[in-house]
Amino acid sequence: ERTPVGIVGGGPAGLLLSHLLHRSGIEHVVLEARSRDEIEHTHRAGILEAGAVQVLVENGLDRVLRDGDRHDGIVLRFDGTDHHIDLAGLTGRSVWLYPQTDVFIDLATRRDADGGDVRWGATVTQVRGCDTDRPGVLWTDPQGTEHELRCDVLVGADGSHSTLRHTLPEAQRRTFAHEYPYAWFGVIVEAARSAPELVYTTSEHGFALISQRTDTHQRMYFQCDPDEDPSGWSVEQIWAELQRRVAGPDGFRLTEGPVAERSVLRFRSSVVEPVRHGRMLLAGDAAHSVPPTGAKGLNLALADVVVLHDVLESWFARRDDAVLDEYGHRVSERVWRAQHFSAWMSSMLHSHPGETGFAARRRVAELRTLTASEAGRRFLAEGYTGWGPVLGG
Ligand code: DHB
Repeated sequence: ERTPVGIVGGGPAGLLLSHLLHRSGIEHVVLEARSRDEIEHTHRAGILEAGAVQVLVENGLDRVLRDGDRHDGIVLRFDGTDHHIDLAGLTGRSVWLYPQTDVFIDLATRRDADGGDVRWGATVTQVRGCDTDRPGVLWTDPQGTEHELRCDVLVGADGSHSTLRHTLPEAQRRTFAHEYPYAWFGVIVEAARSAPELVYTTSEHGFALISQRTDTHQRMYFQCDPDEDPSGWSVEQIWAELQRRVAGPDGFRLTEGPVAERSVLRFRSSVVEPVRHGRMLLAGDAAHSVPPTGAKGLNLALADVVVLHDVLESWFARRDDAVLDEYGHRVSERVWRAQHFSAWMSSMLHSHPGETGFAARRRVAELRTLTASEAGRRFLAEGYTGWGPVLGG
């Protein structure tokens, strides 16, 4: 079987690329290893930058405007005190609380309605000929039958465990990575919102993030050991841990309720270069991952895709492989800004196991200096909202 563009991965990155290519009249096939149902029920990030919302809305996906919640600010809480960051006032931009699962549902529904060729449960077993003009993959359908797909351009949007990334030749591949000695214990709780805005908090007990989902369910995280077993915690212990991390002289308390879901999220920072090998290109988590603090992962993946779509349009118009080289150069600046922002937010807000008293007080001094200065608050707000009105670029 042949198709102009083969997209491996049907998460938000692969499906947004599919949607944009469809609108440009470029034929393609999407292969996704998981079932649609499994992806819809995997909790992921919750915050979209204004630029990401703009991309969705301009391309006919506007449910985010009805079902998402616009957030004009966030709270940094330390010393048991709230410090408000007025995102909209400082940058003119807001962010949207709209879970990644909803972005996925909107894209999958729309691809279906438009007759998109998305093959769920399609496992790629081999990648072939990336450095030829007929790159392709062997893949197995849910019945176990093997197929071959050949294309002009192959896209790896297959996530942090990417198969396609491994086709980058060892001699050319460079991986830049950073590991963190902490992880997040994430819960979905059945309760009303505890605060109007997201609260990023740090205390002597460590980091916690009070996020939201709906009127009846909320998303919260607290820093834990990467090897923590989430099943070992009672509901009472989870609430006690969250409460003590947000506690302060203002008497702030979280609204409690049953814990509907729990899991431990390990994280790391990584960037692989180059993002192109011949006619194979990587996008989203396949090319880079960020720690969750600051919610950059999904936004970065969507930004990659906006640029990649533009590059592919030019390539199909001119068939000049030099065009494919532009992709890596064009996405790299945003990728590294997001790497810095996510690593900075993470290290500023988490307590490092075994951290000295000096290091802990220095972190609080950094937070105090940052939030006391309008320039500091604006620096944070610019990063949090995505540095500009346009995604990609
Ligand atoms: C959420 C996750 C994040 O990593 C973040 O920075 C903000 C919100 C969330 O899942 O709601």
